Amino acid sequence: MTPKTFPFPLETVRRMEARTPTPFHVYDAAGILRRAKALDDAFSWSPGFRNYFAVKATPNPAVLELLKGAGSGADCSSMAELALAERAGLRGEDVMFTSNDTPAAEFAAAARMGAILNLDDLEHVEFARKALGGRLPELMCARLNPGRAKEGNAIIGKPEEAKYGFTPEQMFEGYHAMKELGVKRFGIHAMVASNERKPEYFAETARIVFTLLAQLSRTLGIEFEFVDLGGGIGIPYRPDEDEVDLAAVSAGVKREMENVLVKNGFKPPRLCMECGRAITGPCGWLLSRVLHVKDTYKKYAGLDACMANLMRPAIYGAYHHVTVFGKENAPADEVYDVTGSLCENNDKFAIDRPLPHLEPGDLVAIHDAGAHGHAMGFNYNGKLRSAEWLVMPDGEPRLIRRAETLDDLFATLVPPIRTGEGETR
Ligand SMILES: Cc1ncc(COP(=O)(O)O)c(C=O)c1O
Repeated sequence: MTPKTFPFPLETVRRMEARTPTPFHVYDAAGILRRAKALDDAFSWSPGFRNYFAVKATPNPAVLELLKGAGSGADCSSMAELALAERAGLRGEDVMFTSNDTPAAEFAAAARMGAILNLDDLEHVEFARKALGGRLPELMCARLNPGRAKEGNAIIGKPEEAKYGFTPEQMFEGYHAMKELGVKRFGIHAMVASNERKPEYFAETARIVFTLLAQLSRTLGIEFEFVDLGGGIGIPYRPDEDEVDLAAVSAGVKREMENVLVKNGFKPPRLCMECGRAITGPCGWLLSRVLHVKDTYKKYAGLDACMANLMRPAIYGAYHHVTVFGKENAPADEVYDVTGSLCENNDKFAIDRPLPHLEPGDLVAIHDAGAHGHAMGFNYNGKLRSAEWLVMPDGEPRLIRRAETLDDLFATLVPPIRTGEGETR
């Protein structure tokens, strides 16, 4: 069981709302730090363990700075994410560049920062070499797609149908080519699950990666400095689900490391991960007010937020818990579809959800929106991206992104339109 509560007093919400009307996102800095530490602590048996926080989950430099202070690196997948990591003071091997279908300019930018390049495809060995002026960096990594050896899960799909990574056979060719091109230090990466809550799943992935690492080392005569097990640790979106047992995830990985590598004479590689959701997911809320309550064939509560603020429910059918301020203990004896205002019928945060009686003006919290929430926003129907607040460990709310204005939206038109609206936000 994971009770779904909002950790800050109403007074803090009122202060935020006075500056940025709903909808807006709120993050809990103390919670984020606690979760980053819990992951590090679970892997404390592994010297040098590090989580490279997946920037795509919560791409805001204030969050990255907070996590940098706790020892996290950054996992980037694009030019913008590299720039955000750099802005947060992360450079060099603090940055993992795990991209796919990568433009040459992004390889070049990542290499300029000294980031660890994690290649997604055999062809990228040569593509990256050319993009970097003929020379690969001293340290390189490649992403394994284990294919049939591993089942996927709902979000990321079956590995053999996923666009990511090298086949195991291509890994031999890829590392051989990198070695021939002068690469001296090696890492290996796999990420085959998203929002996975079963600890054994991670142990299984580790077994596959460690087994391949041993074969690659023996065949090619190379030593692996690190193993990156990717992100994908899940969170309990539903109140009747439990937190992932990180101690069990870690114990399973340790068991596989001992059985596959240590017992066979291999030096244990440094372990790392790229978790995003497990760190910030439960520490973010989308706050929104009910605009309309509509009673037709069903009851609808129309919010001032829409799937442009949080699209997980619409694209994955994902569950996000909804609570109503001031009605936390009221009986959930009415059933609503909780909707946004997009001209798309899948713009629903919840379908057939038992909730207390709702009225226009009610303030609702949509829980577990801290990862892949604001980040996935878009502008369809001219919806504006919302503000983001980070409530610091001392309880003080810090505005870390203002809300978009119509002028922001129209700035790229040629010629741009200026409305002057919302400039003070
Ligand atoms: C390469 C890579 N690393 C890390 C992550 C972060 O995943 P999560 O936030 O589920 O941990 C993702 C998510 O899509 C990813 O594609």
